[in-house]
Amino acid sequence: MRGSMVTPTIHNQPIGPAIYLETFGCQMNELDSELVTGHLQALGYQFVDQPGTADVVLFNTCSVREQAENKVFSRVGRLRQEKDKGREVVVGLLGCLAEREGSGLLQRRPEIDLLCGPGELDHLPMLLDNILKGQAVEAADRVALQGSNSRRSAALSAAEDSLEVLDLSRAFDPDGGAIGGRAAYVRITRGCNKFCTYCVVPNTRGAEVHRPPDAIVQECRALADQGVIEITLLGQTVNHYVYVHGAAVSSCGDELPQVGPGLSAFRNGTAGGPGSRKTSFADLLARIHDEVPEIKRLRFVTSYPRDFGDDILQVMQQCPRICRYLHVPAQSGSDRILSRMNRGYSVSQYREFIDRVCSAMPDVSIAGDIIVGFPTETDEDFDQTCDLIRSVPFKNNFVFKYSPRPGTAAINRFEDDVPEAVKRSRLNTLLAIQSEVSRTVHEREIGHLHEVFVEKLGTGGAQQAPAGRVELGWETPVGPQAQLSGRTPGDLITVFDVPPTQSAESLIGEIVPVRVHSAAPRLLRGSLEGALNPV
Ligand code: SAH
Ligand code: SF4
Ligand code: F3S
Repeated sequence: MRGSMVTPTIHNQPIGPAIYLETFGCQMNELDSELVTGHLQALGYQFVDQPGTADVVLFNTCSVREQAENKVFSRVGRLRQEKDKGREVVVGLLGCLAEREGSGLLQRRPEIDLLCGPGELDHLPMLLDNILKGQAVEAADRVALQGSNSRRSAALSAAEDSLEVLDLSRAFDPDGGAIGGRAAYVRITRGCNKFCTYCVVPNTRGAEVHRPPDAIVQECRALADQGVIEITLLGQTVNHYVYVHGAAVSSCGDELPQVGPGLSAFRNGTAGGPGSRKTSFADLLARIHDEVPEIKRLRFVTSYPRDFGDDILQVMQQCPRICRYLHVPAQSGSDRILSRMNRGYSVSQYREFIDRVCSAMPDVSIAGDIIVGFPTETDEDFDQTCDLIRSVPFKNNFVFKYSPRPGTAAINRFEDDVPEAVKRSRLNTLLAIQSEVSRTVHEREIGHLHEVFVEKLGTGGAQQAPAGRVELGWETPVGPQAQLSGRTPGDLITVFDVPPTQSAESLIGEIVPVRVHSAAPRLLRGSLEGALNPV
């Protein structure tokens, strides 16, 4: 069937097969999609904006909640109908759902031709090539690559981690990427060792692996050379980053990715053993800040509320280009629920951490995540979560209804006993409380001058909620003038009018001074201040 596929041409020149790639889930997936796109483009594949014109449709999937998976399955179902009517298209699932489901999915869903887990994305070109070479599409030819039984088993050999090559060889497209190629993600840690009882990520992304600091700095430097001015460092528990030098070195002397030291190392300060030379997260931040000064904004997500040392806060205080912004999910305000979630901290420890952060940086901006309706959550537990949200100056919280996930400890240990209607009502209650807190946090900014990184025209979608996230909406202002929206260093969405004399589009990707004159729960409004030259 594939052999009959028509080779597309531009000006009579043959071009590679056309791929449509849609991404679900978190920033890790967005980065993976960018890397995979660069890799495939370098091999001659073309990327198209519409699934209808593609030879290959790929979904980079998320498994964190059932709703995220359902979205993908409904897309796949539509393609199945088209295939039944005779459309020739290769359908592939990449990412966490592919990893979680494994090859059994190919049996259940014959319309899927390819599965590739997040730990195997470096093999994707080979998989695609095999399929496109025109083999008959028998079940045996459909391919699945997962990592959990091979690369990321207990015998994981970080030295063989060719994913590192994918990160390092990123083919940066100056017109692509976020905000016209001015913002980029850089992974510092893969995987997660935390095993929160509700969460699939340790299963889908595998054990924590830390990248060598030189490779990270080199990637930041390369991005800055291409015009990137904002870098967001990525890790599931980003503050757990630590690299022990001399422990994993290639035969040519290059440092290699390294399996994380485990949480106890943070408790006892023993990562790598006494006397070993380490690069901590604070060291890494300081290195990137000092060695790549062209990066005007250095951010990082997601922080874990434990093991966030004062050394990190000091670096944040001392380095002006590190954004004073933390995404540090609490998940619940009840100690009983936190313990069932295996989060490893109490509410008072979370509060102490926030107090420490706020006294070190009174202008810090804090965001979080909350799960409502975790098994056995009572009204009393939920009230405690409401109290936490009321008393911490969160700029926003992503609120999720608990979704039991196959393969997690929670689904085996606890019945999903909070009725859907109760989950929904708790979610709405929390959003209403958060709305008031957000309003107060945003109103504090009235009169202040902020450097705004301009992202797009208008307000729509200035902050898109990832799959399944429910956020507070914000009003879309109307008016004749062109409007731009962007973010402050603290990640507050800011909308401002552009004078008719100024080309609005020329400001996208720039950092400009904006004086805030009003605030809504999810939005600041202001005016361009002073010279219109970007900061
Ligand atoms: N590593 C990050 C979170 C990654 S997953 C951290 O620990 O903070 C993003 C968010 O999805 C989590 O913070 C949690 O709030 C939510 N989440 C994860 N699993 C979930 C589940 N089974 N049901 C509902 N929400 C979930
Ligand atoms: Fe999931 Fe917990 Fe790891 Fe975050 S820290 S990715 S919630 S297991
Ligand atoms: Fe991200 Fe979803 Fe996987 S949140 S790590 S894409 S399960």
